[in-house]
Amino acid sequence: MAIKKVCVIGSGTMGNGITQVVAQAGYETTMVDVKQEFVDRGMDAIKASLGKFVERGKVSQADMDKAMANISTSIDLKQAAKDADYVIEAIFERVDVKLPVYQQLEEICPKHAILASNTSGIPISLLASATKRPDKVIGMHFFSPVPVMKALEVVKSLLTSDETLKVSLDFGKAIGKEAVVVKDSPAFVSNRIITLVLNEGAKMLEEDLASMEDIDKIIKLSFNWPMGPFELNDLVGIDVAVDLLEGIYQQTGWERYKPARLLKRMVEIGYLGRKNGKGFYTLFGTKK
Ligand code: NAI
Repeated sequence: MAIKKVCVIGSGTMGNGITQVVAQAGYETTMVDVKQEFVDRGMDAIKASLGKFVERGKVSQADMDKAMANISTSIDLKQAAKDADYVIEAIFERVDVKLPVYQQLEEICPKHAILASNTSGIPISLLASATKRPDKVIGMHFFSPVPVMKALEVVKSLLTSDETLKVSLDFGKAIGKEAVVVKDSPAFVSNRIITLVLNEGAKMLEEDLASMEDIDKIIKLSFNWPMGPFELNDLVGIDVAVDLLEGIYQQTGWERYKPARLLKRMVEIGYLGRKNGKGFYTLFGTKK
C-alpha cells in the first residue's frame, strides 16, 4: 500500500514533532487538534524546531519551506482524516479519550487506512477493539523530541496483520527512524525499563540513601547516561511517570511498578517537572 496522505491527531509535544518529521519526509500531512490555538501552538513549535535546524546548517531553508508546505492543519477530525492513508494518533494518554477517537476514525477513514497510536503503554488491542479493522491498528511509539530521537518502537498486537507491520516499518524508515518491533504488553519495552529507574530513584530519596544530586551524578558517571533518574523525571513529567507506573501496575499487579509515595506526593502538590517549572530540582536541588 502506498502512503500519500498522513493525518496526525494531536498537536502537542509528540503530535507536532511527528508532523514535522513526516512532512520533512515529503508526505502530505494534516495535523488536527480540538482548538485552533492548539494547532497554532503546534505549528509555532514546528517552525521553531525547523528554524533551529536551518540555523545549525542541518536543514536547508528550501527544505524547511518544502516541509512547511506539506503541512495543513484542522480542528475538524472528519475533514482531516477522511482521505488519509495513514493516521498517527498522539492525544492524551487516557483510554476514555482515545477510544471514542478510534470509533470515529473507523467511520471517517478509508477502508485501507492504517491507524497507528503513539501511546506510551495503553494496549494496542484495546484501541483496536473500538474499530472494525483490528488488523490495521498498530503502535508507533516515538520518543521526545521526535525530530532528534531516532528510536521507534513498533507495537504489533495479536491481531495486527503482517501487511500493516510491513507498511509501518517501511514508513518508519522513510521518515528516518530506526524501528524495533515489540509485542503488545504493558508499556512495551522502553517504558517498562525506564519507569523502574524513575521509581527506584524516588524510593532511594525517600530512604535518604544519598542526596538527589548525588544519585543522578553516580548514575550518569557509572553508566555514561546523559541524565540521572531525577533529571529524567523532571524532563518526562512526574505526572506522566506516575500514570505510566499506575498503568503497568494495574495491568500486571507487579509490586515493583507501584508508584513510589514520593512521586505521588510530588504530583499532589503540583510539582510536575520542567513543564510547569516545579520539579525535583526546584524542591530538592541545592543549586536553585
Ligand atoms: P500533549 O498533552 O502535549 O498533547 C496532546 C494533544 O492532544 C493536546 O494538544 C490535546 O488538545 C490533543 N487532543 C486531546 N484530545 C483530542 C482529540 N479528541 N482530538 C484531537 N486532539 C486531541 O501530550 P503528548 O506528550 O504529546 O502525548 C501524546 C501521546 O503520546 C500520549 O499517548 C503519550 O503517552 C504519548 N507519548 C508521549 C511522549 C512524551 O515524551 N511526551 C513520548 C512517547 C509517547
